[in-house]
Amino acid sequence: MVKKIKACVFISGNGSNLLSLIKSSRSYKFPIKIELVISNKKNANGLKFAKKYSIPYKVFSSNNIKIFERKSLFILKKKKITFICLAGFMKILSQNFIKNFKYKVINIHPSLLPKYKGINTHKRVLDNNEKCSGCTVHFVTQKLDSGKIILQKKVLVKKNETEKSLRERVLKEEHKLYPEAIRLIFK
Ligand code: GAR
Repeated sequence: MVKKIKACVFISGNGSNLLSLIKSSRSYKFPIKIELVISNKKNANGLKFAKKYSIPYKVFSSNNIKIFERKSLFILKKKKITFICLAGFMKILSQNFIKNFKYKVINIHPSLLPKYKGINTHKRVLDNNEKCSGCTVHFVTQKLDSGKIILQKKVLVKKNETEKSLRERVLKEEHKLYPEAIRLIFK
């Protein structure tokens, strides 16, 4: 049996990437075990998946990001967690926080970085008549959506594409790309 890396997934909302990571991590070959889910929103839909799969979870308000980080760090250290996946977590973590994990903090973003950092990516892609978009898994630094890229997947923009249809098609690719990127990191 592979000795799994103890991981935590940070979420803020829907949690479909969390679900895909939970499903992947149920395989004995997958390199990480999700020992904790942290949400900065108490009503985040993704918390349902933590409950369903009996994964411990915590909700810490991020109104004060320093307090959020302090509370998170305390429990992460206690659980000896060494790897963090941000999955739709919509806050920026400080350099001080990230370095506690030897920079093993990764994120998934719904664009082909370095293009379209930040929010409303799909709307901006369509407004600019881009022919393709996609998703990126990258290491997290204090600079928004800017760390080293681990993997990307391109998605062609269709005729009559809407924000909703593009979001759904990119999200479907994210669910495959995120586990693949984690396998690659620990290969
Ligand atoms: C995903 O598309 C993810 O890439 C994006 O939020 C969505 C969360 O969906 N993240 C960002 O925009 C971070 N900058 P999910 O909650 O269903 O996983």
